[in-house]
Amino acid sequence: MRLNINSKYYEINSESDTPLLWVLRDELGLTGAKYGCGIGFCGTCAVLIDGKARRSCITPIGELSGKNMIITIEGLSENGLHKLQKAWLEIGVSQCGYCQPGQIITAVELLNENPNPSESEINDKMSGNICRCGTYNKIRQAIQIAAKE
Ligand code: FES
Ligand code: FES
Repeated sequence: MRLNINSKYYEINSESDTPLLWVLRDELGLTGAKYGCGIGFCGTCAVLIDGKARRSCITPIGELSGKNMIITIEGLSENGLHKLQKAWLEIGVSQCGYCQPGQIITAVELLNENPNPSESEINDKMSGNICRCGTYNKIRQAIQIAAKE
């Protein structure tokens, strides 16, 4: 099958029940999306599929086709850093960094749907993304900064 990832087509050799995360990391070497829980709970593996943040650890590639536009954290900065990535850097959100690709991908979906979210709307949207380092306040601040851009 073919998949459209970061605006390029890739021939994929994995079985159709293989989770997208495995294909990205092991077959294509796109290691930005991280393995956390593997059961759709933590959000660290999130990628954009047709503009929606989806958990790639529980998305079998058989559910996808070349018509779906998949964007990983690598693809987000192909034309320069996304405004969320700039805001992340501006206030130094990351600590260990492990959860941050999934956090940023989820924040992209949020701003796509709601360019000027309230604090509670940010909290609601981001509540499914776990950060063991507790960077939640800075994540919220960075989203607010990016929303003003
Ligand atoms: S690794 Fe996919 S949601 Fe946790
Ligand atoms: S920055 Fe370490 S888990 Fe979020």
